[in-house]
Amino acid sequence: MAKAKTMFTCNECGHTTPKWLGQCPDCGAWNSYEEGFTRPSSNPSGPMGEQPKQIAEVATLPVSAQPSGVQELDRVLGGGFVAGSVALLGGEPGIGKSTLLLQTAAEIARSGQRCFYVTAEESSEQVRIRAERLGAVVDNLWLVSETSLPAILGHCEKVQPDVLIVDSIQTIADPEVGSAPGAVAQVRHCANVLVGEAKRRRMVTVLVGHVTKEGGLAGPRALEHVVDTVLSFEGDRHHALRLLRAVKHRFGATDELGVFEMTSKGLDPVADPSKLFLTDRVAGVPGSVVVPVLDGHRPLLIEIQALVAPTALPAPRRSAHGVDSNRLALTLAILERRAGLFFGKSDVYASAVGGTKISEPAVDLGVALALASSIMDKPLPSDLVAFGEVGLAGELRQASQSERRLVEAARVGFARAIIPAGSPTPGEGVEVVRAQSLEDALRACGLLGVPSPTGVGPNDRDAPVSRRTEEPSTVR
Ligand code: TYD
Ligand code: MG
Repeated sequence: MAKAKTMFTCNECGHTTPKWLGQCPDCGAWNSYEEGFTRPSSNPSGPMGEQPKQIAEVATLPVSAQPSGVQELDRVLGGGFVAGSVALLGGEPGIGKSTLLLQTAAEIARSGQRCFYVTAEESSEQVRIRAERLGAVVDNLWLVSETSLPAILGHCEKVQPDVLIVDSIQTIADPEVGSAPGAVAQVRHCANVLVGEAKRRRMVTVLVGHVTKEGGLAGPRALEHVVDTVLSFEGDRHHALRLLRAVKHRFGATDELGVFEMTSKGLDPVADPSKLFLTDRVAGVPGSVVVPVLDGHRPLLIEIQALVAPTALPAPRRSAHGVDSNRLALTLAILERRAGLFFGKSDVYASAVGGTKISEPAVDLGVALALASSIMDKPLPSDLVAFGEVGLAGELRQASQSERRLVEAARVGFARAIIPAGSPTPGEGVEVVRAQSLEDALRACGLLGVPSPTGVGPNDRDAPVSRRTEEPSTVR
């Protein structure tokens, strides 16, 4: 085996250097270098390695994905795991990573493949108890509680698994590397060795990685380069909903979304998330509107709620949950300047229901309508959806894939939609109201005084939702 070499690794970004440096040239962090070892690869692609070829001459191995049997996971992976590939599953502690992987391991084992679950955080007994709860006590599922990397490799030799799960990469260590488990040098080293092992055995490997509060994978982003697939498991701990996404995927697209619900018997796939989000909705309440958002390719109908309440505080509260707080502030300013709605003496709360986080600007119009509806204490029509980005001039800007959003709205039973005027012509199913500006949209919902002389849409079909002409009383 080649000799181990001393290397220094940046704790922030994973940059390595043979000499200690005060400041990382890559990420600019100070005093972030830590000593560790790397072992030169036993098969360097140096002068004796691969020769350059014309691209057409490169032979390809067929990449075939093997379904795991957990449908929502397979959806995100674009079919399943590819032999010899390494995936990293990241997520906050307690979100359900171990649960998901134990269920997945059981499904894979049921299909006849040999699955080896290495737990480096819990005892085998604890995992067995959980497995009973999940219905995961099956043949072909092997288990060991182990934190030493060489021992894990030794077990792999004996078990010869098709699929190896290491829970988690931050709690295993190679004693040859000086640093503690979880230190960047250690995490990187272990991951590199496991990647080599996965390729050599053509064994699917899934590593669990804990994500810090700031959202970075601890043992920083360094690992993301080493693995083929980075999956992120998210959700609000106080809600049952869990979302699975591919942040990086060498064998396919990264825009599929997997949706699960955490139950007392583990994670259940959610085939119709829009329905789940809308179960508890109470129609006819001021401050509520449904927005078809797109998460990757998957359209979801999410209820946006706003509450505007008078306050005596000199600095009123602005609270955003699941929607961007900067965009909330911006939307309030636009409503004030363009629609004459004054929020200066009110606390404002806006939230996306169900513990989801919406980052796309297409939610702007929904937030604006919910705010206006709340301050005026007028409910919006309950069969209405709205989406579109609101610009600083109050203009409505198109959202991507409006067709998809409208199809989803129609499927779940919504009849009307307010969309930006420039959006492509949608298919049948939902009656659309095209609005040039936020004012147009508010007017179409009866949340602004007089209908505009030009109407809200270019043709008759796009008639306003309702025309109320009385002066709203709470407007300044
Ligand atoms: P876990 O998979 O241990 O999270 P992670 O590995 O990401 O740290 O799951 C933790 C939570 O999930 C725990 O608080 C209990 C809950 N849970 C259920 O609600 N139902 C279940 O069937 C299981 C196994 C866990
Ligand atoms: Mg765990």
